[in-house]
Amino acid sequence: MTTTPQNTPTQSEGRKKVTTATFRANKERGESITMLTAYDFPTAQAVDRAGIDAILVGDSLGMVVLGYPNTLPVTMEDMLHHCKAVSRGARYPLLIGDMPFMSYQTTTAEAVRNAGRFLQESGMDAVKLEGGRDRLDAVRAILSAGIPVMGHLGLTPQSVNLLGGFRPQARTAEAARCLLEDALMLQDAGCFSLVLESVPARLAAFVSQRLDIPTIGIGAGVGCDGQVLVTHDLLGLFERAPKFVKRYANLSTEMARAFTEYKADVDAHAFPAVEHSVEMPDGEWDEFIEATGHRLDEAAFQRFTSSLAR
Ligand code: KIV
Repeated sequence: MTTTPQNTPTQSEGRKKVTTATFRANKERGESITMLTAYDFPTAQAVDRAGIDAILVGDSLGMVVLGYPNTLPVTMEDMLHHCKAVSRGARYPLLIGDMPFMSYQTTTAEAVRNAGRFLQESGMDAVKLEGGRDRLDAVRAILSAGIPVMGHLGLTPQSVNLLGGFRPQARTAEAARCLLEDALMLQDAGCFSLVLESVPARLAAFVSQRLDIPTIGIGAGVGCDGQVLVTHDLLGLFERAPKFVKRYANLSTEMARAFTEYKADVDAHAFPAVEHSVEMPDGEWDEFIEATGHRLDEAAFQRFTSSLAR
């Protein structure tokens, strides 16, 4: 058993639901767009409360939640399971479901069917997929079903084997030109926004200026129209994080402290104390003891009475 999740009053109260039109309007007004990943209900609530514009249920969940070495093993079922939890926790942010490896690369029909599941079954507002010119048919087909699509260029983790590792992209003139072309093609195909991951800051700023749709950067410098981070990295849940991450907390240390303290308390019978325990009326207790003919053994009784004294 645990506490009942409550939708407590939040900083989000009075906000309007963020839509793809809000993204566009922010870019036009020069207002930055904030996005974070979330994979579960309480994190979605916290991200919403902080007033963040968008939540990406990233396939990064394969690495930071499920412990895989990369995102390739993540399935549609994994994604939908986590998207459902997030959509129950977040009210205002735009919710974007990340299409996992092999859910859109085979046929356009499969891409549309899988994209549709994100909206129909798990409460997402839009989907994201990786890749440029090779994905235009999938993007157009998904859009034709009325589903907004976010693109993703630069370091595209589902192609980690092709890219030769998780490394910065588009660092040559030719690769930079190719990325710009891909970005323009995705915009023309109808993407409402693009993630630019691990590309040179000046290239990301250039692409952001050339596009009408907003770019969301991760490891792509300050010149993007918005920023996204993997929440587990931002919170310091792991000892190692990519160079482009800024840690805003150190939760791995805090977790270790809390778990160690809990163990020490339990070992010393200092937890649970009386305020953590449920009691019954003395009369009912006496009647119970009478009926059973047994008493608590001495050691247990001592522990119990000393906990009452604390
Ligand atoms: O899966 C993910 O979290 C992502 C972000 C890193 C953009 O794609």
